[in-house]
Amino acid sequence: MADNDAEQPAGNRANRGLSAHGSGPLRGAAKIPGDKSISHRALMLGALAVGECQIDGLLESDDVLRTAAAMAALGAEVTQTGAGQWRVWGRGVGGLREPEDVIDLGNSGTGARLMAGLLAGQGFNTVLTGDASLRSRPMARVTVPLTKMGARFVGRGGDRLPMMVMGSSDLQPITHEQSVASAQVKTAVLLAGLHAPGETSVIEAAPTRDHTERMLRHFGAQVGVSGDGGNGRKITLTGQPELAAQAVRVPGDPSSAAFPAVAGLLVPGSEIRLPGLCRNPLRAGLYETLAEMGADLAWEAKREEGGEPVGDLVVRAGPLRGIEVPASRAPTMIDEYPVLAMAAACAQGSTVMRGLGELRVKESDRLGAVARGLVACGVDVEEGDDHLVVHGKGTPPPGGGLVASALDHRIAMSFLVLGLVSQKPVAIDDGEPIASSFPGFVSLMRGLGADLRGAAA
Ligand code: S3P
Repeated sequence: MADNDAEQPAGNRANRGLSAHGSGPLRGAAKIPGDKSISHRALMLGALAVGECQIDGLLESDDVLRTAAAMAALGAEVTQTGAGQWRVWGRGVGGLREPEDVIDLGNSGTGARLMAGLLAGQGFNTVLTGDASLRSRPMARVTVPLTKMGARFVGRGGDRLPMMVMGSSDLQPITHEQSVASAQVKTAVLLAGLHAPGETSVIEAAPTRDHTERMLRHFGAQVGVSGDGGNGRKITLTGQPELAAQAVRVPGDPSSAAFPAVAGLLVPGSEIRLPGLCRNPLRAGLYETLAEMGADLAWEAKREEGGEPVGDLVVRAGPLRGIEVPASRAPTMIDEYPVLAMAAACAQGSTVMRGLGELRVKESDRLGAVARGLVACGVDVEEGDDHLVVHGKGTPPPGGGLVASALDHRIAMSFLVLGLVSQKPVAIDDGEPIASSFPGFVSLMRGLGADLRGAAA
């Protein structure tokens, strides 16, 4: 993805548009690319381990390839050995080397936040940057705890990228109480904690995705998890372990699967199967919500692969009803609200989504982008500071909107899903951001029967 996309005149982006048109039933099986969160973590922990780490099913999207390039720039040996097959030869905790150039993480907030944690404990300086979307995202959530541990940061405007990370080879352990429910922040602190002596803890009021904890254990680190008495958790890592390289198998990404799954629920007559998805309970909120809305979906062949629960998802189209989504569920479906809003636009009745403040600081202001896009497609919505209400009529929405994807892959894919079931086509101005998480989205959807048109794929 080119830098400065948002600054380009609309004319230069004209050939990147895509449109979605009313489609016949979606049918068949589709293999969803590897999980983005797990892929980033596998590359980073592989680089901090001693020995050769084989990764199977790595997501080869722009975000993750940026992390792969970053780990190579920091001295790990990172090689692709086949489709989705990668080998990382790590340099051990504290063993990375100063990169020769700025590290550009593209569109990836996960890449940037996790990298800040990983670099905090290296005794050298690194400059991180990214595209216009990433350069606008807040980093204080990671720099504040990491500064307490002994790293220093100099960012544009205080806490924005480009940012220099001045690592320390003398980090101190901390106990960090999360002020926002964020797996990125938790992971940044734990990655820094690998370099500090003694115990580093993170206390989270609401549990967030736990791929880091699972993978750290898989690599031999000591990670304890205890309840905090309420619904929260305290995660404690014993610092300065020797991480032993392990094979990692990356399951299909349930956040990417959400787009064909919701399309399959909405387009009449559809039945699709999405095998091998990660069904970690801390990622499963969307599927629980859709089931409450009356969706016909089932998990089959449930199994455990590479330390993560996995299953095959089967969805069949049928009517949905609006519901109130509990705010407490937000951390388990934070990336899925845009596509849930598309399902809500087609459901019978109102769907109320609360506790969405974090959506304002994702790849775009997702709350605003969803609300504006739905209005452009003739859907009745109420947008609050941190809530969204979508009023569905149980019939196909009018559609016909041209939606700005705002450098946001999930906004782009969500509105393409809506266009498959709307009365009139829905267009997005720029399909390129989709490559940050889901390369092959357009051809996968076309393979299921979706009528998607345009050059960007
Ligand atoms: C991620 C955590 C979430 C999510 C992002 C991936 C991760 O961000 O939105 O897409 O891999 O840890 P927050 O931690 O900011 O909620």
